Amino acid sequence: MSQVFGTNTELVIVDAVAVLLAGGLVAFPTETVYGLGADATNAQAVARIYEVKGRPIDHPLIVHISDFKNLKQWISDIPEYAIGLAREFWPGPMTLILKRSKLAKDFITGGQDTVGIRIPNNSLALGLLEAFHKLGGAGIAAPSANRFGQVSPTTAEAVQEELGSYLSDTDLVLDGGQSAVGVESTIIDCTGELPRVLRPGAITIEMIEEFTGLKVSNSLDTKSIDFKQENIRVSGSLENHYAPKAKVFLDQRPLEGSGFIAHESIDTPDGVIRLAAPKSVEEFARVLYTALREGDHQNLDSIYIAQPTGDGLAIAIRDRLSRSAEGR
Ligand code: TXA
Ligand code: MG
Repeated sequence: MSQVFGTNTELVIVDAVAVLLAGGLVAFPTETVYGLGADATNAQAVARIYEVKGRPIDHPLIVHISDFKNLKQWISDIPEYAIGLAREFWPGPMTLILKRSKLAKDFITGGQDTVGIRIPNNSLALGLLEAFHKLGGAGIAAPSANRFGQVSPTTAEAVQEELGSYLSDTDLVLDGGQSAVGVESTIIDCTGELPRVLRPGAITIEMIEEFTGLKVSNSLDTKSIDFKQENIRVSGSLENHYAPKAKVFLDQRPLEGSGFIAHESIDTPDGVIRLAAPKSVEEFARVLYTALREGDHQNLDSIYIAQPTGDGLAIAIRDRLSRSAEGR
């Protein structure tokens, strides 16, 4: 598999667009995590995403676009509040779930009548999306660039580690450095009268409520949504996701020989391997997945995490961690 480092961005983008147009895969940085991209209108290309990820075929993909103007072709309906959210928070770490148009085929939506759309806030991603659009591309379908159920990659090296052996020579991995946010986008279901958060992220419930003046239905406790009954498939809402190989323990005293991730104000007990000591909740999100990976590099059996408390981004971190720790 070939890899391109972002030395000459323009050339890299020209290459990457050619790969996409030929039905190949391009992993690219976003501000949340790295995505594994394919032309969202090419069934065969999208099928390879599922193969490379080892992901069940009925899990829908997010379509990434470069500009609000390109949204219309993907959707058949959009409530006022969603237009407002798009204008306020895009480009940014937010995915809107909207009624799909005919362009959003079953191979993107997992057969649902909705489609997830996002404009990422990362210069390399936006450059790629714009160049792809100029050559007639409608959008880039991209899940996180990890094997199904594993930790999302926040660097190009982590993408290589996850998928390198599954990608082909003609696929590309673009290197845009470390993802600035570090946890996946907030997913907001905008098909009802009120917005509903399906996956918490850096665009927080408080931000959505403050901006729209609407009550956001608190389905953050995703266990309160019956995904099966409602026929919503959010794979990231499955238990036992975002999981490293090491066993994850939350808010317990770390045992000797195990890994430890906690705010820098919390000391490392004797004999425990400190994997990260973030100074803020933002830094916690940014370094978390790299720290989990580091625990696996060191072949640790267990990683203990003192979770950040409070609202905002801490909710997203606890959401992912509860799933990394679940059922193991
Ligand atoms: O930050 C992100 O969102 C990253 C970057 C690459 O954009 N992408 C990402 O994609 O996290 P993925 O596929 O790993 O997670 C997207 C989640 C999945 O759980 C999927 O089931 C859900 O979004 N999803 C996509 N389309 C949906 C839809 N129409 N209805 C409900 N959930 C949907
Ligand atoms: Mg994912």
